[in-house]
Amino acid sequence: MKFGTKVIHAGLEYDSATGAIMTPIYQTSTYVQTSIGDHKGYEYSRTLNPTRHALEKNIAAIENGKYGACFGSGLAAIDCIIKLLEPGDEVISTDDLYGGSYRMFTTIFAKYGIKFHFVSMNDTLGIEAKINKNTKMIWVESPTNPMMNIIDIEAVSKLAKTSKCMLVVDNTFATPYLQKPLDLGADVVMHSATKYLGGHSDVVVGALVCNDDQIAKEIYRVQNSSGAICGPQDAFLVLRGIKTLHLRVQRHCENGKVVANFLLNHPKVDGVFWPGLDSHPNHEVAKKQMKDFGGMVSFTLKGNRLNDALNVLKRVEIFALAESLGGVESLIGHPATMTHAAIPKIEREKTGVVDSLIRLSVGVEDVEDLISDLQKALN
Ligand SMILES: Cc1ncc(COP(=O)(O)O)c(C=O)c1O
Repeated sequence: MKFGTKVIHAGLEYDSATGAIMTPIYQTSTYVQTSIGDHKGYEYSRTLNPTRHALEKNIAAIENGKYGACFGSGLAAIDCIIKLLEPGDEVISTDDLYGGSYRMFTTIFAKYGIKFHFVSMNDTLGIEAKINKNTKMIWVESPTNPMMNIIDIEAVSKLAKTSKCMLVVDNTFATPYLQKPLDLGADVVMHSATKYLGGHSDVVVGALVCNDDQIAKEIYRVQNSSGAICGPQDAFLVLRGIKTLHLRVQRHCENGKVVANFLLNHPKVDGVFWPGLDSHPNHEVAKKQMKDFGGMVSFTLKGNRLNDALNVLKRVEIFALAESLGGVESLIGHPATMTHAAIPKIEREKTGVVDSLIRLSVGVEDVEDLISDLQKALN
């Protein structure tokens, strides 16, 4: 199946009891056994639930993976994969990543003896410098949040293979419509399905996908043992969202391009961060590993004044001031005080998260309305 067919059909079956075309929401905690151990594959919903199972198969298929596992949030998915490590293990992570991932690494798992190194991944040299016998995992986000840096997943995967460590890619921003990390050599793909996969800002879900039997076994062991699963209604909403993923993301990309070019030519705007721009430092890598460049655009204002940024946030009318991204509606955010507030100022400024940085999740509205909204707010 090609991608547009997979999103609608992969891993899904019509309901055998009723013929319902949509996967039912199996709102049940347990399943009747005819005799001990004699059941239809489902025993208890923490371990497996038919609606979640359908979503897990569907997400695995669209990422070109064999195994999918879904969780109560993106962070719960990250929590699961980091629990595959042991005290003393080391992780090399990109230094420009979602603030919540950084907070989990530094305030939760560091306490249990896992060491995290945060390095720029513009090339593989920074990663190589930190690799040692304890390195067990490389953590990549591409495009990164919020600076839209692009990391060469294939190059990092070669290094991960020679160093015998697991490469995990947070594919939340790109989605499998634009980029398939497993095809590029990653071992595990992680998603905040809350974002583009769900696509309608109505659910919080996370996912992991992999091909390796042993890694999958461990993921399912932690998923069942820690129990951070998503409920069936949430799984249903993500399944429904994924059916239009290709249509939505294509429109996000088209609108993102118009918005990025508008900002590029605006006299009050300083830097524009969107991987589709020729001026983007990793534009060539983006072209190589992505189908298009997405709807996430960040920019800074000339003078880099916090108040100027806050004024733009206050004046927009169509863009809603909110955390999150990837829904059909356009959102605007201020990383320094919102998504990335958990990262110390000195650290965040090193990666470009300065006071005037504004992040847009460009939605699928008519782009002319989005431009006039930004035009008014900036003027
Ligand atoms: C890139 C990225 N990864 C992970 C997460 C965490 O996902 P969730 O909010 O679903 O826990 C987010 C949330 O914003 C994100 O943007």
